[in-house]
Amino acid sequence: MADHSASIPFSSSRGSIIGVFDSGVGGLSILHSLQNIIPNQPMLFIADQAHVPYGPRPLQEVREFSVAITDFLISQGAEIIVVACNTASAAALNFLREQFPHIPFVGMEPAVKPAAEQTLSGVVGVLATPATFQGPLYTSVVERFASQVRIMQNTCSGLVEQIESGDLQGQKTRKILLDALNPMLDAGIDTVVLGCTHYPFVIPLIQEIVGDQVRVINPAEAVARQAKRLVEKYGILAAQGKSTIPHCYTTSSPDTLQSLAIKLIGKEIPVTALCWNSHSPVVLSICKNRLS
Ligand code: DGL
Repeated sequence: MADHSASIPFSSSRGSIIGVFDSGVGGLSILHSLQNIIPNQPMLFIADQAHVPYGPRPLQEVREFSVAITDFLISQGAEIIVVACNTASAAALNFLREQFPHIPFVGMEPAVKPAAEQTLSGVVGVLATPATFQGPLYTSVVERFASQVRIMQNTCSGLVEQIESGDLQGQKTRKILLDALNPMLDAGIDTVVLGCTHYPFVIPLIQEIVGDQVRVINPAEAVARQAKRLVEKYGILAAQGKSTIPHCYTTSSPDTLQSLAIKLIGKEIPVTALCWNSHSPVVLSICKNRLS
């Protein structure tokens, strides 16, 4: 296994550590739900902001990043991993389960099943990244659960970058969403599935565009409930007590992630810088001179 140079002291005496990762701040939408549902569980979160967005990248590359991140989280004591990224789940979830058979994983797939069950108009919109639409998970979920439903897809090109820059309401963000949602509205959607963990942060704008009659499905809570079920199943749920503050890492600027976290989830979180090396396979470690 890789040498990760150093580790942040983190007590797991209050329950096993859940490792959570995403390409960027999207994972905070999942982390936030996890904290609401299991506030005492220690958590580590990695935002691979040096490589965001994952969506336009080849699946093989995203898989390589996902393996290295998982390896790092395990080296820091994580016993369960939540892949808080639809794109990384599409590219790597099955592979991660094979590579780390002793680790339970919770992954993401667009919530097409509940949408297909609940739609009355029979037309459902799905917003996700190109890689998510290309992956086998999405194809399989549409084949299994949505054969009777008309699905309209859009990759919302540039939206992840807008959210990473903290622009949740501006002109450019609005235009990306209008371009994606107007054709769906014209086709009669009554449900929109958020197939990217960044998108919950623009729900107010999405809802403003689609109106109250269209249901927006944010999977964050369902994913957090699934993680809680796993933690209970393995008997590693933290005891009740004081809620824990997750420790976060970024492969880019800790200051930027810290201020975005305040804006997006209203919390001040400690953030440490991680560095990618350039070996093949790639390895993550704590940056020697950039601890914060
Ligand atoms: N938040 C991610 C997802 O759920 C990744 C978006 C991206 O990096 O392109 O797909």
